[in-house]
Amino acid sequence: MSTTLFRDARCLDAQIDVLWDDARGVAAVGPAHTLAGDEIVVGGLLTPPLAEPHVHLDAALLGARAPNCSGTLREGIANWARLREGLTRQDVIDRARATLAMYREHGCLRVRTHVDTGSLLAVDALLSMRDENLQVVAFPQEGILRAPGRREAWERAVAMGCDAVGAIPHFERTTEEGWESVRMAFRLAEKHGARVDLHCDETDDPGSRNLEVACAETLRGTVPHVVAGHCTAMHSYPEPYAAKVMELVASSGVQVVCNPLDNVVLQGRYDGYPRRRGLARVDQLWAMGASVGIGHDSVQDPWYRLGTASLIDAAYMLVHVGHLTSEADMKRVVRTLHTENHDCFGSRPQLVEGARAMLWWNAADEVELLRTRGKPRVMVA
Ligand code: FE2
Repeated sequence: MSTTLFRDARCLDAQIDVLWDDARGVAAVGPAHTLAGDEIVVGGLLTPPLAEPHVHLDAALLGARAPNCSGTLREGIANWARLREGLTRQDVIDRARATLAMYREHGCLRVRTHVDTGSLLAVDALLSMRDENLQVVAFPQEGILRAPGRREAWERAVAMGCDAVGAIPHFERTTEEGWESVRMAFRLAEKHGARVDLHCDETDDPGSRNLEVACAETLRGTVPHVVAGHCTAMHSYPEPYAAKVMELVASSGVQVVCNPLDNVVLQGRYDGYPRRRGLARVDQLWAMGASVGIGHDSVQDPWYRLGTASLIDAAYMLVHVGHLTSEADMKRVVRTLHTENHDCFGSRPQLVEGARAMLWWNAADEVELLRTRGKPRVMVA
């Protein structure tokens, strides 16, 4: 048995000692300079492990096979549709495993992945890897109502055992069909006891208003912990409507998961100058009391080749494009990665005696962590 004493380390806003036991996990927590141990590490930042609420493991590490020449969302979807036809079960599993290993190196031990229901082979492959730290969302990349067969494949994927039902309402043919696809997602989730996790209003169109439908459905109370991913149209909503819908988000408990790495380059693509950033209004959502998660979304996939599986990278982008560079906001962004980001799993890890995992970062606090963006020492018992 060996122990490591993390002495005088930062944890939230306190300096503490933590005694780590390789077999048991966190053996003791106390004020700085009060505990003893074998190996001693002085200083640094301690946090619980991070969680990824939004990524696409079925497409991860595929970007180099079909480079996105225009850099647009539409070409990304078209390239993915071609790549999807050539997938094999082993290829999906190998890339998912490699990506999860990258996440782990960066301190992320829980991942919620979307999987395109256009490939039931990929759905089956990712479901075979599912456990308490890997959730799978049935995501109809090309919509449910746009073409024959898509609804059936999506329903089949959910019946195969996905944790959550996805939809992409802004990509359906009409506004009404987009709204209907949201309602269908809730009905399917109710039928299977699943949750709902939508790609919601991932567009710069201020007329894309599916989030309010998701909130109204959530308020019926039949599906717990509903997630609305992206919500980039919110960036462009007129102020009175933005205020209304954000209040609805807060009161319904829908969690908005923003994906700043992808959306800062995929949105604003049809703009001249000034060019919109296209990101959910994180500062205003916080002010309304809404829950916000931060996703990485793409790890070297057809939409975004630069993904590293580091949630700190996503946080770094968010503080820049979201104007969240006050001391308090930067800390809150980093802390979101080990608090709200875990909520889709139903529990938040704490750094307390008995905890089986924690991270040590070579940084004095969260602000220095954002600045340096190093990998943590990952401690798992
Ligand atoms: Fe996504």
